[in-house]
Amino acid sequence: MEICRLEHIHKDYRMGETVTPLKDINITVNSGDFVAVEGPSGMGKSTLLYVIGTLLKADDGKIFFDGKDVMSMTDREQTSLRGEKVGFLFQDSSLIQALTLRENLEFAQTLGGKRKADPAKVDEMLERVGLAERANFLPYQLSGGQRRRAMVARALIHTPDLILADEPTNDLDDVWAEKVVSMLQEESRRGAAVIMVTHNTRWSAQASVRYRLDDGVLLQQEEACGE
Ligand SMILES: Nc1ncnc2c1ncn2[C@@H]1O[C@H](COP(=O)(O)OP(=O)(O)O)[C@@H](O)[C@H]1O
Ligand SMILES: [Mg+2]
Repeated sequence: MEICRLEHIHKDYRMGETVTPLKDINITVNSGDFVAVEGPSGMGKSTLLYVIGTLLKADDGKIFFDGKDVMSMTDREQTSLRGEKVGFLFQDSSLIQALTLRENLEFAQTLGGKRKADPAKVDEMLERVGLAERANFLPYQLSGGQRRRAMVARALIHTPDLILADEPTNDLDDVWAEKVVSMLQEESRRGAAVIMVTHNTRWSAQASVRYRLDDGVLLQQEEACGE
């Protein structure tokens, strides 16, 4: 089942010289897909995730979510779409600094307005990322790796349909990086669509579909390599 589709997406940044990270992006992501996007730094991978997640408006092209044209939605509709259906794992820390881990997760559960906080699910999720003992810590009291794991928990806590993971293994040791990529894989097995940005072929090799973003163009890896 199709979750999200991009047609001819174009994005410029006009600050001094114009940068065009996305030139003509076409991609369909289905339920159960685990998509990896590779590419050098500064190529627009984060930009792509922001555009898919409706946090950044494209200049041209169309995005469909569950078959609905996202750009014709009101701001409020886009906000509840994000809160209910999308799990964001941003490249930079995105926990709310004034809330404990438990509160960060409960807040994510209720975003979009249709769900109540579910403390048992929060406990279970903190357990999965090895932070059960840290539930009442504030983000600044955690190490970089612990914060990254908390961000993973925060992104997955509301069972999103689409997970946008921007370099999710940053700050993690190999053991936790492996676990986090397995968690994303598990999410795709339960039917979520996962888009993971990574530099590391060790992680992209575990995806079901691999793309490369280079010079504003998204190419499926097998096509690129002629395999
Ligand atoms: N808000 C912005 N305003 C202007 N330029 C930006 C902005 N965000 C990113 N860029 C530029 O767009 C290009 C792509 O950035 P980004 O999407 O962060 O790449 P990646 O995630 O692949 O490293 C870079 O050259 C970056 O400097
Ligand atoms: Mg980036």
